[in-house]
Amino acid sequence: MSNSAPIGVFDSGMGGISVVRQIRADMPDENIVFYGDSAHAPYGLKSVEEIRGYCFAIVDRLLDMGAKAIVIACNTATSACVNDLRERYSVPIIGMEPALKVACDRGNGTPQHVIVAATPLTLRERKFARLMARFQNAHDIEKQPCPDLVTIVESGQLEDRDLVMRTLHKYFDHYDLEHVDSVVLGCTHFIFYRSYFREFLPSNVAIVDGNEGTSRHLHVVLESLGQLAPDPDDDKENASEPAGSAVQPKHGNVTLLNSSPDSKMVELERYLLDTPLYR
Ligand code: DGL
Repeated sequence: MSNSAPIGVFDSGMGGISVVRQIRADMPDENIVFYGDSAHAPYGLKSVEEIRGYCFAIVDRLLDMGAKAIVIACNTATSACVNDLRERYSVPIIGMEPALKVACDRGNGTPQHVIVAATPLTLRERKFARLMARFQNAHDIEKQPCPDLVTIVESGQLEDRDLVMRTLHKYFDHYDLEHVDSVVLGCTHFIFYRSYFREFLPSNVAIVDGNEGTSRHLHVVLESLGQLAPDPDDDKENASEPAGSAVQPKHGNVTLLNSSPDSKMVELERYLLDTPLYR
């Protein structure tokens, strides 16, 4: 397979765009095809069987488009079926899970009080139970499902500050936040709320997410397979440019797709990808 082949990235909807942003920042030469399954979002309130069916169909489509690797930019879909996908397909499949290890490691041996915010499905599935079992003897870990934070992004209401703050109060007011060390954003949709969380949480509470780790993992896997996109500078060195001509920096393309018949959903993807407001 050509190294210029795209990386296929998918999510139940807009959340995966936060992962595309990270991959694009870390590996700007890569071509990316993103598929948001907004017609079926939210996944976090569906059954494992339903999600599995959607994911197989999406991966088939991304592979038809020539994807050299697949990133499941969705903690929920990863919980539901990462092993099934890896069994069926031979391309590398990178999954995601809430960055609980990162949150616990921040203490350098001191017990940490961590809230993991994710979808109901992620928090009740076996994959997370196993992850939690590795840390819960040494740390105080609480699970907080936040399904409304998914629907707010999907319905384009992320900038409705009152709605977002009300929702954060609903989910987090019962915690003694002054005694919390970190909140893990264990759903890719939640990354878009980072500045709201920063404003809402006391300054002692760290906000942790898994996007950087996922992008790093992807890089390691592609590098180990010799499948990183070619550096466009290599071409420039060989090409004979007319003297004085401006050389345009060439970067990978990001193609955006969405299962919703409403064309506004691809526009929303583009907006979330390009706006500097949400990191
Ligand atoms: N973005 C997804 C995640 O990381 C799931 C959102 C949903 O559809 O419920 O878990």
